[in-house]
Amino acid sequence: MTESRRADLRDVLARNLTGARDRTLLLTDHDEPELLRQHSPLLSPLVWDLAHIGQQEDLWLLRHGDPRREGLLPAGVEALYDAFTQPRAVRSRLPLLPPVEARSFCREVRGRVLDRLERLGSDDDPFDFAMVVSHEQQHDETMLQALNLRTGPPLLGLGEPLPGGRPGVAGTSVLVPGGPFVLGVDAADEPFSLDNERPAHVVDVPAFRIGRVPVTNAEYAAFVADGGYSDPRWWSARGWTHRQEAGLERPQFWSAHGTRTRFGDVEQLPPDEPVQHVTYFEAEAYAAWVAAVDPAWAGARLPTEAEWEKAAVWDPATGRRRRFPWGSAEPTPALANLGGGALRPAPVGAYPAGASTYGAEQLMGDVWEWTSSPFQPWPGFRPMLYADYSAPFFGGDYRVLRGGSWAVAASILRPSFRNWDHPIRRQVFSGIRLACSIGGPAA
Ligand code: AVJ
Ligand code: FE
Repeated sequence: MTESRRADLRDVLARNLTGARDRTLLLTDHDEPELLRQHSPLLSPLVWDLAHIGQQEDLWLLRHGDPRREGLLPAGVEALYDAFTQPRAVRSRLPLLPPVEARSFCREVRGRVLDRLERLGSDDDPFDFAMVVSHEQQHDETMLQALNLRTGPPLLGLGEPLPGGRPGVAGTSVLVPGGPFVLGVDAADEPFSLDNERPAHVVDVPAFRIGRVPVTNAEYAAFVADGGYSDPRWWSARGWTHRQEAGLERPQFWSAHGTRTRFGDVEQLPPDEPVQHVTYFEAEAYAAWVAAVDPAWAGARLPTEAEWEKAAVWDPATGRRRRFPWGSAEPTPALANLGGGALRPAPVGAYPAGASTYGAEQLMGDVWEWTSSPFQPWPGFRPMLYADYSAPFFGGDYRVLRGGSWAVAASILRPSFRNWDHPIRRQVFSGIRLACSIGGPAA
């Protein structure tokens, strides 16, 4: 790497570290009882996320991942922030650092990290800083999930304005012709890509159609109104069992009379906004119902990861990937709804300039899109410094989600980014994009 390339990376990383921290501090700028509250057994109290962000930064960037080296926290305190040994549901009962101490710990770590970045030596890998930015930003999204589950008057307001949608795009699809494409990325092209996005490799993808935009609230409401939640025909066996056991009747945060709760505010369901807060099982059931009731969507199903990524980045004219669906320009508010300020997805059709070569829109931002793919390594996978980020989850009971939500920071998102969760989870900002094979129903 040349000296000027190193200097550029250093500037970007310093900016991204600061951007992540500004956001973390904003999301944790609440009084102490608020930060200590456990909003759901699925999520941590915010003060845990806060100190965990600092603890991970200390571990990866100041101790090169070696927990035996002395960190800024006493070992017994550090152990409270180990995500593998402390289940989320019990974290509010741990003797956690109070908010003031958690903040000063994070500040102390960050000061040392920025010093190290300033003096970035040849044995320092700039990637590790990007990995830590991604970790912090992902926890910021998790904190938004917790704040969305919080009861009580709104804390965050209603969000920044978004562009309007356009009519005629909901329910339509675009064609992606069959043929090979390059799935995944390499560090040379995407230096900040995480281990599970690599390496780039060729896969052949048969022709398919994919939704131009995500499924809207109005479309999903038709499934609910048609009795979709009481007809096992649409559900997988596991999905139906879960639907019954969990008593699912509609997406999370929806009421029975056309309203939804969003960050503590009750409002009419916006018909043209992508549906949010559905499990993988609901996404699957919706697709099966559409396949049966809409001849234009015969064989409707969820896309695979490979289909999703091809529709997002492949440029058949050049035989190469684009960096983003729209090309090489960095995301802007005119191209995608990212960064978390909106507190909601944008209506479908809001980002015509963000379309991919095949014409699919809103792939980046808005809602995480469930794919039918279980979480598996790409061939040739090699773990990064934080070796337990991805590998322990490969082959588990997870489905991959793609594209990021409105809550994801632009600085960590790429079309190759892979998120995963259990198929029963829906506190995530998760939605649906349909696909179907050409020439008959899906295999
Ligand atoms: C990639 C979002 C599934 O939240 O469990 C945060 C991200 N990993 N700290 C998660 C993560 C470790 C991870 N997801
Ligand atoms: Fe973490």
